[in-house]
Amino acid sequence: MPSMPEIEGSEEVEDSKLDEMLGAARAMMPRAYVPYSGFRVGAAILNEDGMIRGGVNIENASYPLSVCAERNAVASMVISGSGKIRAVAVATDAERPTPPCGGCRQVLWEFGGADTPVVAAGANGVRARWRLGELLPHAFGPDDLR
Ligand code: THU
Repeated sequence: MPSMPEIEGSEEVEDSKLDEMLGAARAMMPRAYVPYSGFRVGAAILNEDGMIRGGVNIENASYPLSVCAERNAVASMVISGSGKIRAVAVATDAERPTPPCGGCRQVLWEFGGADTPVVAAGANGVRARWRLGELLPHAFGPDDLR
């Protein structure tokens, strides 16, 4: 049987890699700067080269200028020279695993796709898993500017 053509970056991300990413996201949490909310978030993004880039939320005395962990992880990925998200992991100490906020979903969409896995872990290791397309249906993105 002829093998399927390999399309770079389109393969399913393995569960073990998603677990590793959740570990990386949790390891980032102590670096969160959260003097106002006290709510630490760690994020990890897997890029097309298989590298994991992390981010934490960084708050500001001018509250709306605070930046979420996911967006800081995106910045880290872009700064490192990558432009494609293959998977996203978010770690918190919340009772329930938390998905990225609406603004972060839009920023993730810029570099990810409908099938991009998004995993989250809250306190006690409780986990959730989505696809970016579920979290942001009917997204507006780069293709809409053509
Ligand atoms: N936060 C994130 O870092 N990511 C999200 O997706 C949701 C919220 C941060 C923002 C703020 O620093 C704190 O969590 C409480 O909202």
